[in-house]
Amino acid sequence: MQLKSRHLLGLEGMSEEEITLILDTAESFREIIERPIKKVPTLRGITVINLFYEPSTRTRISFELAEKRLSADSISFTPATSSVKKGETLKDTVRNIEAMKIDMVVVRHSSTGVPYFLTQCIQSNVINAGDGSHEHPTQALLDMFTIRRKYGRLKDLRVVLVGDIKHSRVVRSNIWGLKAMGASVAVCGPTTLLPVEVEKFEVDVYQNMDKAIEGADVVNIMRIQLERQQAGLFPSQREYTNLFGMTRERLALLNKNYTIMHPGPMNRGVEITNEVADGDASVILEQVTNGQAVRMAVLYLLSGKKAEEE
Ligand code: CP
Repeated sequence: MQLKSRHLLGLEGMSEEEITLILDTAESFREIIERPIKKVPTLRGITVINLFYEPSTRTRISFELAEKRLSADSISFTPATSSVKKGETLKDTVRNIEAMKIDMVVVRHSSTGVPYFLTQCIQSNVINAGDGSHEHPTQALLDMFTIRRKYGRLKDLRVVLVGDIKHSRVVRSNIWGLKAMGASVAVCGPTTLLPVEVEKFEVDVYQNMDKAIEGADVVNIMRIQLERQQAGLFPSQREYTNLFGMTRERLALLNKNYTIMHPGPMNRGVEITNEVADGDASVILEQVTNGQAVRMAVLYLLSGKKAEEE
């Protein structure tokens, strides 16, 4: 069993078998990051460039550590201190970097489709680390890995994604991945934060938080993007918390053995209270730990797939 593509652009269209391959491979890497010496020679001789055109804490450090733990040579490119500032185009930037003989590119960008665009410009394997509101595949993979570790399966679990459904790339990747794995998926948010054609996701849609989370096994809470407040997408943070905040009182509505997730960064006191974020059922930091193992698995599985094989 192999991944079909030599790039990871998104989870839309990825099969249950491919996702299972990534999650199973991540299990062996998860063990390595618990060792005193967290390094294996798996990617020795492979060069990876991390192109982060948008801010990131978790994804960027997680990829950088994953690359180091696999013994790849890796460089992180910072647009603010590069010739991007002199007007160099994205295409010229990546073609020049590839001329230095690299093998893989990890890219985050505010524009949807940039990872695909790069596959048309260069020969390296491309991994999407988040593009606009489109997809954030490694986040969804680490979310699924974390859920599967706790319950031993994804099939038939009730997973509810709450918050800014419209703008969230994490939501989209989770929907495609969880549906492929046989989970029961629901989304919940205010009308203004639901996409216009939300029915195309073919998931349950709620605008009432209490109804949405009733009997849920997993609630994955999305960040309210405070920078969008000016656009008037909801009246106030206090009203949002009342209607859609994950509070201690709401935990009583969930299934026994429930799980609370958040991809980060969190707005504590807005979409999630401190006591829920730091409570016993929260796996938020475990998600971050698992992210390294999942990214090691993705790098490993794609590194063996070269352009000339296509
Ligand atoms: N979850 C996530 O993508 O976090 P960062 O923006 O910090 O990478």
